[in-house]
Amino acid sequence: MKAIVQDTYGSADVLALRDIDRPVAGDNEVLLAVRAAGVDPGVWHLMTGMPYLLRVLGFGLRKPKVPTRGRDVAGRVESVGGNVTRFKPGDEVYGACEGSFAEYAAAREDRLAHKPASLTFEQAAAVPISAWTALQALRDAGEVKAGQHVLVVGAAGGVGTFAVQLAKASGAEVTGVCSTTKVDLVRSIGTDHVIDYTVEDFAAGTRRYDLILDIAGNRPLSRLRPALTAKGTLVIVGGEAGGKWTGGIGRSLRAALLSPFIGHRLRGLISKETSADLEVLSALIEAGELTPVIERSFRLGEAAKAIRHLKEGNARGKVVITL
Ligand SMILES: NC(=O)c1ccc[n+]([C@@H]2O[C@H](COP(=O)([O-])OP(=O)(O)OC[C@H]3O[C@@H](n4cnc5c(N)ncnc54)[C@H](OP(=O)(O)O)[C@@H]3O)[C@@H](O)[C@H]2O)c1
Repeated sequence: MKAIVQDTYGSADVLALRDIDRPVAGDNEVLLAVRAAGVDPGVWHLMTGMPYLLRVLGFGLRKPKVPTRGRDVAGRVESVGGNVTRFKPGDEVYGACEGSFAEYAAAREDRLAHKPASLTFEQAAAVPISAWTALQALRDAGEVKAGQHVLVVGAAGGVGTFAVQLAKASGAEVTGVCSTTKVDLVRSIGTDHVIDYTVEDFAAGTRRYDLILDIAGNRPLSRLRPALTAKGTLVIVGGEAGGKWTGGIGRSLRAALLSPFIGHRLRGLISKETSADLEVLSALIEAGELTPVIERSFRLGEAAKAIRHLKEGNARGKVVITL
């Protein structure tokens, strides 16, 4: 089968389209004929092995342990392992796996759900990692409530476009933060207010928020906290700067250490890939409350181009690879 593989860590130049063996599904896995695969910053981190902490955490010291790139997946079930009960050959599913930039991928049953009938494969592949993250940031770490004022920093990106819609579905009043050329997009997905961070400082003190999701920008805690209400919550989701050893993790550690001693609740987030939460997202999608925003699709052989496109900050919503 054709797949996007790499032999060494590095820039997108290390990726190659090659013929490799089809994966074999284990007892708790299904074999998928991949129809589409989402692209997100995690793909870039696994490709480059940056920050170095990733390598120490078991992703491969000198080269990636899993040579095939891609995590988000949507496709059709070809065969199922002996312990799989929820899926059968022919089912259309979506979720996360290792190596989705390939014609076939093996995926754990507990990281998949049936694809919502209203979504194309391309749309479905855009959902899992970004929407899991947005859901868990709002519901679990943020404990969002109806009527709260929520600020989404990084509202135009993969996680942000889901976070805005999920916060609105929770009954919150939502302000999205993005750069100038993305203001129209962020307004179009239902935000009540949009702040263009190139012309306005959301932390200038004119407005305070019950909950801030900090998805992008790596602003220090001292810049974010003034925008919180007295008992407000800050959830640190991501941000692509930070040192080459630990990336953005330092901010989350500082937040965890500081939080017990102040009125604000400061939380980090490590999202969990569960089929239960994918079912929650499917229900919202079927109810018309959540729609993936796809900026652009690339062919499998253009995976390097797709990753560069995302990394350069061009994407409005999600970038997807279709097969
Ligand atoms: N904690 C977790 O478990 C978890 C899970 C998934 C992803 N993440 C992380 O979350 C982050 C976002 O992921 P994503 O998929 O949404 O990435 P993405 O699709 O690349 O979007 C990133 C967004 O950040 C915006 N941005 C860049 N600089 C900014 C700034 N200074 N202020 C405000 N916005 C800024 C960009 O648009 P504009 O600047 O042009 O508006 C872009 O829309 C990444 O760091 C990713 O690694 C964390």
